Amino acid sequence: MTATTGHEGLPALSGRALGIDIGGSGIKGAPVDLAAGEFAEDRVREATPQPSTPGAVADVVAGIAARWPEGPLGVTFPAVIKRGVAHTAANVDKAWIGTDVAELLRTLTGRSVHVVNDADAAGVAEARYGAAKGVQGVVVVLTLGTGIGTALLHDGVLVPNTELGHLEVDGHDAETKASDAARDREDLSWKDWAKRLQRYLETVEALLQPDLLVVGGGVSKKSEKFLPLLDLRTPVVPAGLLNSAGIVGAAALAAEAAAAEGASAG
Ligand code: BGC
Repeated sequence: MTATTGHEGLPALSGRALGIDIGGSGIKGAPVDLAAGEFAEDRVREATPQPSTPGAVADVVAGIAARWPEGPLGVTFPAVIKRGVAHTAANVDKAWIGTDVAELLRTLTGRSVHVVNDADAAGVAEARYGAAKGVQGVVVVLTLGTGIGTALLHDGVLVPNTELGHLEVDGHDAETKASDAARDREDLSWKDWAKRLQRYLETVEALLQPDLLVVGGGVSKKSEKFLPLLDLRTPVVPAGLLNSAGIVGAAALAAEAAAAEGASAG
């Protein structure tokens, strides 16, 4: 045992599970090799229907799920999720608020579906297989995309639904200024965007005193353009799974849930 292997408590996973990631612009799915934490086959991507109403989005998810009809199914959703129900809808159609996402997808797919906040799924994947693997203490995993998603982990254990992307920074909902979508929308240089990210991450740092910050989301592929411009007390590293963390985390959580259900059914 070394000082950095802190997650012996996580039960090892094996086999395959399907992960599907519902985002503001795309719905992506792939079967995941659970021992490796990697896609077992090529990922598929469909455009998110606009408006992104529950019925239209659920049909796309069911279509992707039908390609791989076997095994546990985990789905991410970009909102607060409690017991399968969406409680917010910052970047998706407001009709999702109060929708039992798990039940809707179970009805359409005929399978039990584990639904989780997208950033929480990414956090779980980073803790199991990626940049937060074995890290003791407090880790914040951020996904910078259409919005800002956050996952808070302590010794590898997730505290769900933290929603720190909506912290108020300089009088603004942080994600409206510091998300990757804001960079795009306002055509910001990496330097100007990094200044906003710096303000945001300083706030997260001051409030949570993390031991590690992990930056994920699509833009993590270009982390060399902005991570060196940040000046924080906390080490900041790019996500180990880049943009696949949502799918991998959803699949891992679905497999864990299926195993727990099997155990309780005796
Ligand atoms: C939502 C979060 C989500 C994040 C990333 C935010 O606007 O409130 O629930 O995790 O976007 O998609």
